[in-house]
Amino acid sequence: MSILIKNIKTLFGIEEQSKISVSGSEMGELLSVDNAFILIEKNKIVNFGEMKNCPDRAEKEVDATGKMVLPAWCDSHTHIVFAKSREEEFVMRIKGKSYEEIAENGGGILNSARKLQAMSEDALYDSALERLKEVVGFGTGAIEIKSGYGLTHESELKMLRVIRRLKENNDIPIKATFLGAHAIPMEYKNNRNKYIDIIINKMLPEVAGEGLADYCDVFCDKGFFTVEETDRILEAGWKYGLKPKIHANELAISGGVQIGVKQKALSVDHLECMSAAEIEALKGTETMPTLLPSTAFFLNLTYAPARQMIDAGLPVALASDYNPGSTPSGRMPFVLSLACTQMKMTPEEAVNAATINGAYAMELSDQVGSICKGKLANLILTKKIPSLAFIPYAFGSDLIERVWISGKEW
Ligand code: NIG
Ligand code: FE
Repeated sequence: MSILIKNIKTLFGIEEQSKISVSGSEMGELLSVDNAFILIEKNKIVNFGEMKNCPDRAEKEVDATGKMVLPAWCDSHTHIVFAKSREEEFVMRIKGKSYEEIAENGGGILNSARKLQAMSEDALYDSALERLKEVVGFGTGAIEIKSGYGLTHESELKMLRVIRRLKENNDIPIKATFLGAHAIPMEYKNNRNKYIDIIINKMLPEVAGEGLADYCDVFCDKGFFTVEETDRILEAGWKYGLKPKIHANELAISGGVQIGVKQKALSVDHLECMSAAEIEALKGTETMPTLLPSTAFFLNLTYAPARQMIDAGLPVALASDYNPGSTPSGRMPFVLSLACTQMKMTPEEAVNAATINGAYAMELSDQVGSICKGKLANLILTKKIPSLAFIPYAFGSDLIERVWISGKEW
């Protein structure tokens, strides 16, 4: 099947030669073509350019007069497999309890784990599929999904099997991350090493043996896993070929960035708590700093210093962190709005961060994240809008009209 989208007001995110990521001042450059067409054949982009070079016909034509086309968002950090929402903790925080206090008393991640352990794999799959469909409707065209609400051998594997089923049954590129080290279960509170041993010697071999994960994650932060524990777990992950992608510096300057760099993490994510030393540590590395501003919004945290990071020459990716505790939202356009309003990223920087740099943080830059011949036709068609900046500006409007994933309309 060939699909020709024509009369596009502006086609954004084009590349003649595929890049794997953009950093520093390059992040402000988003190549585009006005009055454009894009041609899809089967699942791929095969041609694009100005309307004057538009091919005669295709099996299906879409008129995009007044509308924009962009590469679909690449959301490189989510936790969309979970059992239940946690709005009672949201109300507790409104009344003055902190995220850490709730966690220390068995709420938070441990609350989600109790609920997930009690839920069947099928029921988890159904609810995660609903969330996957929801986020594709917001324009997400590639996604990473973590385990980490199982926290037992059996339930961590159950989560990863759900992610495997999502991969098998959907065209959207999905990466799976093993996050057994999301929190220390209550019963190991006074014997942390025992749980870490289970992660290293029981969970990891089976996760890797069944090929259930692409990456290994640790929540390296105050009250969760120490730098030393993180180092040990990531080292063990590497033995099974699992690259690290870690949670770092959400609640404190935890040393997570430095350990991520030492362990050659694909990405270090969150980074609400940063100093000049962390920015320095990331320079010249292959680790993608990934910012999750809807978490800062929802938990009322300081936002990550995106402006300083980009001005220091670093790349930055944006992701949703969709999960029931700190970010009950997978709406990437809202992430872009927060990136612009709260972190002073320009709309062009925000789009690059949410597309090509997100793709990098999932090792998918050769397939998605820009408009490039040979890449997957994972595309967003907007409603009629005046400019690119209108997308983050009109933060409450639903501006996405249609989404294609691998050349198929979603
Ligand atoms: O990325 N920070 C750690 N993990 C998740 C939140 C987990 C939860 O509260 O359920 C996050 O924000
Ligand atoms: Fe997270």
